[in-house]
Amino acid sequence: MKPLTVVAVNAGLSEPSSTRLLVDRLAEATVAALDGREVQVQVIDLRDLAVDLGASMAAGFATGAAAPAVRSVQNADALIAATPVFNGSYSGLFKAFFDLVDVDAMTATPVLIAATGGSPRHSMVLDHALRPLFSYLRTVVVPTGVYAASEDWAASSGDTTALAERIDRAAGQLAALLGATAPSSAEQSPPEHDGTASAEAAGIANFARLLGGS
Ligand SMILES: Cc1cc2nc3c(=O)[nH]c(=O)nc-3n(C[C@H](O)[C@H](O)[C@H](O)COP(=O)(O)O)c2cc1C
Repeated sequence: MKPLTVVAVNAGLSEPSSTRLLVDRLAEATVAALDGREVQVQVIDLRDLAVDLGASMAAGFATGAAAPAVRSVQNADALIAATPVFNGSYSGLFKAFFDLVDVDAMTATPVLIAATGGSPRHSMVLDHALRPLFSYLRTVVVPTGVYAASEDWAASSGDTTALAERIDRAAGQLAALLGATAPSSAEQSPPEHDGTASAEAAGIANFARLLGGS
C-alpha cells in the first residue's frame, strides 16, 4: 500500500520555535495514532521561505522554494497547520503561504489546526481565524484544535498533561479521517456510537466518507 503523506506547516519564527515543537509533537502523535500504517511526514518551516513567499505574493503565484512547498501541501493526504498568534490572529507569513494554495486543490483534505501564543487568552484564534480559513479551502478540519500558551510548556506552572491529552485527541481524529480515506478501512462497517474515543473516531470517519474522501 502507498505510504500516507502528512505535511506539517510551521509558521513559527523563533529559534528554537515553540510552534515547531508543537508541530513535531502533533506529527509524532499522528504517526502513533495511525498504528503501523506507513506514513511519510514532511515539515515545512515557513521561516526558510520568507523571501520566496514575499516574491510569490508580488508575482501572484508561488515562485522559488515556495512552489514545491505549496505543491506538497496540495498533494498531501493530511495537513497539520500551525502558526504563532500575532496580534490576535495567524501570522502574516502563515496567511501569505495559504494564499498561494489553489482553492480547489485541497477539497476534503483532513487538516489539524494548531497555534502557539504568549497568552492562554488567545486560544480562540483557532476558531475565529484558522478554522474559517481552512473551511474556505473546503478541507475537513478535525474538531479538536491544539493551542499551546507559553505556560503550557512549563511543567512547574502549566498543565502539560492537558496539552499532551489534547495533542493525542487531535492526532487521533486526524488519523481517523486518514483511515476513512484509506481503501483498507473504507469497506469496514463502523461500530455503534457509545460515547467512547473509538466511537468518536468512527463518527469522524463516517463524516469524511460522506464528503467523498480525497
Ligand atoms: C509581533 C508579535 C505579536 C504577537 N502577538 C501575540 C498575541 O496577540 N497573542 C499572544 O498570545 N501572543 C502573541 N505573541 C507571542 C507569540 O505568539 C508566541 O511567542 C509564539 O509562541 C511564538 O512562536 P515561535 O516560538 O514558534 O516563534 C506575539 C509575538 C510577536 C512577535
